[in-house]
Amino acid sequence: MTLLVAGGTLMTISASRSKVSDYSSIASASKAISEDTPFNKMMQVLTHERCVNCHPTDNIPKQGNDSHPHYFGMMRGEENLGFAATKCTTCHQTENNAYSGVPGAPHWSLAPKSMGWQGLNKYEIAEAMLDKTKNGNRSHSELIHHLTQDSLVLWAFEPGVDQEGIPREKPPISEAAYKAAVLAWFENGAVVPEE
Ligand code: HEC
Ligand code: HEC
Repeated sequence: MTLLVAGGTLMTISASRSKVSDYSSIASASKAISEDTPFNKMMQVLTHERCVNCHPTDNIPKQGNDSHPHYFGMMRGEENLGFAATKCTTCHQTENNAYSGVPGAPHWSLAPKSMGWQGLNKYEIAEAMLDKTKNGNRSHSELIHHLTQDSLVLWAFEPGVDQEGIPREKPPISEAAYKAAVLAWFENGAVVPEE
């Protein structure tokens, strides 16, 4: 490739590539999962951009499947709700807006920093999710409830369209298959397999 492309062109290409990869998601790795265990099925959802974009390890919500930083310089703000003038719910309503492309669900806000998953692998996410010092002091049954009932979690399976009217990608398995995997994994003791 270096032989074919003039220096200037090549530089442009690699510069734009590295920009994207700075925020490239961890989901691409998990898409290749072959083992069909409940753990792996569940983690195909938890590592997906629809979840991880709202569970950043920094203070910036992410957007899209390249997980780019949220437009308008949106930041965590007080209590994860954004800053007063730019509260998340100023734009994000309780349901998706098909005209403006703003996604919505009840209680739209950023996951607290202790629940940051972006950049972690599926084993690390599972450990963090079970850790009561990080997960909002949730027991297993409270986690099951959250994972299968919470409006922000379920939004991922009905994520609406983006600003260009293009449907957002859903997690790779159905909501029913995901819920069954969550229940099966917890019933079997919520064991995080060896990496
Ligand atoms: C719009 C933002 C948003 C989206 C999208 C979102 N979450 Fe969350 N998540 C939150 C917030 C906010 C909390 C904290 C809620 C609380 O503690 O009451 C949270 C907490 C959690 C928790 C409990 C804390 C922990 O670390 O165990 C789990 C589990 C969770 N989310 C899973 C998911 C999954 C799975 C998805 C995708 C299918 C998802 N979330 C999508 C915002 C989001
Ligand atoms: C000024 C309006 C506005 C505010 C305020 C705002 N958002 Fe957004 N948000 C948008 C729009 C518009 C989109 C859709 C962008 C697109 O997909 O084309 C979006 C998309 C998102 C997404 C992308 C979902 C995905 O998986 O692609 C997340 C996550 C998100 N916002 C979280 C937040 C959080 C958390 C806050 C508060 C800290 C917030 N937003 C505040 C307008 C806003």
